[in-house]
Amino acid sequence: TEPKSLYERIGGADTIARLVAAFYPRVQAHPLLAPLFPEDITPVMEKQRLFLTQFLGGPPLYSQKHGHPMLRARHLPFPITPSRAQAWLSCMAEAMDEVGITGPEREEMWGRLVITAHHMINTQEEAR
Ligand code: HEM
Repeated sequence: TEPKSLYERIGGADTIARLVAAFYPRVQAHPLLAPLFPEDITPVMEKQRLFLTQFLGGPPLYSQKHGHPMLRARHLPFPITPSRAQAWLSCMAEAMDEVGITGPEREEMWGRLVITAHHMINTQEEAR
């Protein structure tokens, strides 16, 4: 029997949907993140739902609909500083807490998200 994907181990589609629903209100309330996102967050939530499904080893829903993720390229229009990456991760940690993603699944998923978030950084902090 095949080893189960992270996607399956955290609870599949239902868990991903709840995670996305817990994450974006925090993004929209965060002073460093909110200005980057459109007022209508619904299309972003849908893309993230498709993306996280495949990122965690579920069906390749994002690529089927939108092609190769090219995540860093898709983020280049937005100034992603180290502190914004940190903010994104803190919103995600809170969302994972809310949804109850724990244990080894939490560790594995978190490690992958940290790497990916750091990979998105494309702008240094503003001089002040
Ligand atoms: C899209 C910000 C990290 C996945 C976006 C958008 C912004 C953004 C502003 C575009 C919203 C729009 O459509 O107008 C950030 C910031 C990050 C970050 C500040 C901090 C590091 C990540 C990470 C992932 C991710 C770590 C995946 C694990 C996505 C996806 C989209 C997206 C899938 C939709 C791409 C598309 O247009 O198809 N993000 N993001 N982002 N982000 Fe991020």
